[in-house]
Amino acid sequence: MAIATRLLHVLESQQFSRELLDEIFERADAMRAEPHRASGRLQGRIMAALFYEPSTRTRLSFESAMLRLGGRTMGTDNAREFSSAAKGETLEDTVRIVGGYADVIVLRHPDEGAAARAAAVSDVPVINGGDGMGQHPTQALLDLYTVKDELGRVDGVRVAIVGDLANGRTARSLAYLLSKYRDVELWFVAPPQVQMGQDIKDHLDEHEVSWHETSDLDEVLPKVDVVYQTRIQKERFPDEAAYRAVHGVYVVDADTMARLSPYTIVMHPLPRVDEIDPAVDDDPRAAYFRQARNGVQIRMALLDMVLS
Ligand code: CP
Repeated sequence: MAIATRLLHVLESQQFSRELLDEIFERADAMRAEPHRASGRLQGRIMAALFYEPSTRTRLSFESAMLRLGGRTMGTDNAREFSSAAKGETLEDTVRIVGGYADVIVLRHPDEGAAARAAAVSDVPVINGGDGMGQHPTQALLDLYTVKDELGRVDGVRVAIVGDLANGRTARSLAYLLSKYRDVELWFVAPPQVQMGQDIKDHLDEHEVSWHETSDLDEVLPKVDVVYQTRIQKERFPDEAAYRAVHGVYVVDADTMARLSPYTIVMHPLPRVDEIDPAVDDDPRAAYFRQARNGVQIRMALLDMVLS
């Protein structure tokens, strides 16, 4: 295993160099190939999970990763209600306190920029587990790791990112991370109301990444190596009518799969609601459950690096 490049906080996809990405993926490969060699590496270390928004995958895969490395975990779900935030404590004060109890903090928070605010006052590494409509960099890392694992490459990959791109932090983080690779081509497939933000498009232009914007998924399906489907994020819409206007537009089903090449994979950060028909789950191109499992190895690699 290579010597770790110093990694302090994990806040946004832009912070990763290509070299650092290679090292994280190499570490994740090693964690997967020889899990017994990883057990005990973080013995005596403590991870605090501060989650102000619901989570299944991020919370539990981080816990699984820490436990597999021999460390211990503590934390609070629904921190808005069950931490002293309910009494009016600021995020900054909470982080200052929890940094005295734990060696690393994994934070999920509804406010964009919350992880950066936490890192600014924290004595211990802060890992962004999703900050509102901002970013979800560890999800993007496991997404990219999955593309590499499934297709054998990231350079030259053609990706359709589909669904709620205005509110979807996983889509934003993935686009940033893909811009680190050569000859990538992206299609943003969404209703006009929830298309990808201009900041991401400007970033892609700056890095000379080819991208297209459309609402026609069928037209894109035969052209891509990856369909990255996302959930319409009901909780981020101002009212039911705005949500209903864009919900159910894109559903991956048997007809969708018939339009894809035999080598195209379907990914989704999960949870899904109804945007992928469960009848598709047994298709070998449906990679989303394998993708979720990869979260453990990627988060083991990250914890190992920030705590080494
Ligand atoms: N993909 C993801 O972040 O899932 P959770 O909300 O369950 O953590």
